[in-house]
Amino acid sequence: MNKKVIFVLGVSGSGKTSVGRLLASKLSIPFIDADDHHPASNIKKMSQGHPLTDTDRYPWLDRLHEIAEEHIESGCVIACSALKQEYRNRLEKNIESSVSWVYLKGGFQQIYKRLENREGHFMSAGMLQSQFDTLEEPEDAINIDIADSPEIITKNIIAELKMKAEIGVIGMGVMGKSLSRNLANNGFRISLYNRHVDQKEENIAADFKAKHAELEDALAFDNLSSFVQSIEQPRKIILMVNAGAAVDAVISDLTEVLDSGDIVVDGGNSHFMDTKRRIDSMMEKELHFIGSGISGGEEGALKGPSIMPSGNQEAYAKIQNYLEAIAAKDGDNKPCCTYVGREGSGHFVKMIHNGIEYAEMQLLAECYSILKNQKLSNEEIADVFENWMKDLGSYLLGITVDILRKKDGDDYILDLILDKAGNKGTGKWATSSIADSGEPATMIPAALFARYISFFKEKRGAAAKVFPTPDNDTQISVSQLKDAYQFSIIINHHQGFATINRVSEQNNWNVDLSGVARIWTAGCIIKSDFMKELVGYLKTDSSILFNDNISPTIKKTYSAAQEVAIACLKKELHVPCLLEAVNFYHGIKTADCSANLIQAQRDYFGAHTYKRKDNPEGESHHTEWV
Ligand code: 6PG
Repeated sequence: MNKKVIFVLGVSGSGKTSVGRLLASKLSIPFIDADDHHPASNIKKMSQGHPLTDTDRYPWLDRLHEIAEEHIESGCVIACSALKQEYRNRLEKNIESSVSWVYLKGGFQQIYKRLENREGHFMSAGMLQSQFDTLEEPEDAINIDIADSPEIITKNIIAELKMKAEIGVIGMGVMGKSLSRNLANNGFRISLYNRHVDQKEENIAADFKAKHAELEDALAFDNLSSFVQSIEQPRKIILMVNAGAAVDAVISDLTEVLDSGDIVVDGGNSHFMDTKRRIDSMMEKELHFIGSGISGGEEGALKGPSIMPSGNQEAYAKIQNYLEAIAAKDGDNKPCCTYVGREGSGHFVKMIHNGIEYAEMQLLAECYSILKNQKLSNEEIADVFENWMKDLGSYLLGITVDILRKKDGDDYILDLILDKAGNKGTGKWATSSIADSGEPATMIPAALFARYISFFKEKRGAAAKVFPTPDNDTQISVSQLKDAYQFSIIINHHQGFATINRVSEQNNWNVDLSGVARIWTAGCIIKSDFMKELVGYLKTDSSILFNDNISPTIKKTYSAAQEVAIACLKKELHVPCLLEAVNFYHGIKTADCSANLIQAQRDYFGAHTYKRKDNPEGESHHTEWV
């Protein structure tokens, strides 16, 4: 059992002090009697026979909260009446996931009789009644019947505490498995669930548990209801199933067996609008739904991913310490996990992460194609990229070096791989969301469509015969290419963060761009040295294009990017992301552009009207063109 702060609560006479003391001694953790921590003013008031008001109680509750915080590492038992939910909220604020509640439940007569027999502790029926009137029974507590002896009660509490997992994971696919092991490695007691499908998916969770020593204490299920019952309330359950219909199907089954206040975290690559819908519909059932982007692939999920959660902030507070514990750590050892904002903002941010990832991957593929066109071998290209790592280090550049060098016998594996790029949909969603947002983030769509073109393998082969590419010996130097690559990376990151900023403003999400960059400095696929620089720049500038540290680099690298673009056009090389970076740069710095003609054409055929340069915000005009 993990160390916990265990609050034992109940009305006077329910036995909290004796049970609490016994429980603490059995668990070998300190016991704290809340009554010993009243401020002097409260003691005076009580000794004069005056009842305490809520205002009297607040400093006392706050002190107990501090004591609880001080004991998070060691665990402790605190006996405290904590009759109202408001008091309990105050006691567990920000440490919810480290706290367990035990409610000693008894009837009025039962307790009154006990008090009558208790020497020196007599309480009038009226005073006891007022405690029962104040009592708001907790929903999230382990309920214990006080009829038994303190020894039996303590045994029952320990059994309940031990039986329950702190958190559950649904879906034992690649990511679900890695995340489960990560949770277990961090000392959390977990429950695992994978559905049962005859002859296809049988005993998946149990078999997986059996394979890993760190899962020895984990509980494994293929029955959803038993899985849910095995988790302490409010339940925390992470869904790691395929985005789309599978998530809705699991949610629908889950809502049948969950209890109010339980929290479901969707850690898959769900669409952010689906997440918003799910948050709303779960809320109607008094359940919480947190949409959380998780990046880092299989290894990241196991050793520390970058985590982008969003939704109800109070519910997030209850799962925060689990997510932070399993997340990657940044350069300051802070977890790469931050609350992104309301609604599906976490999944939105993850979707744009993937969009940036698409463009970064495409840029590397374009650099590879240019160097290959200039007859460099895989090893030579790897050497070039490895050299770039010194100034432009990134995870994607690093893995590309490994990929270029990997051989199977005499063959480079890369040369054996069919040139058709797949996708699971986040790049497509990013592209349509960019279009919806009105932000001209052109490189992500360019990267997506490059994948689409790659898919037309046969058509490309046929077109190559009809439209042969003439030889062209224009040379692109490695240093020009490096600058062009750096230029394009900057534009790509500018566009990605500008999209997040715009959509955040449109939805009042208040996304902290610097915070997002920070959690992308480790654990995720687009982690890079440049991302580390952006953390600082984005604190003051929402547009990195205008940042004083970045604009000189854009100016410095542009002419090489232009040369590379021209050479690629002459060589008829397909490099849409490089060209789009250059093109966007041209577009965004054209103070007077040709859109006046577009407006005139719209007005000509559709009477769509136009504004005049001498009064841009003023009235609309229409011209009878013929
Ligand atoms: C990550 C990755 C991960 C995955 C995507 C993209 O952050 O860990 O982005 O989510 O690679 O599913 O996949 P596709 O390239 O197949 O669209």
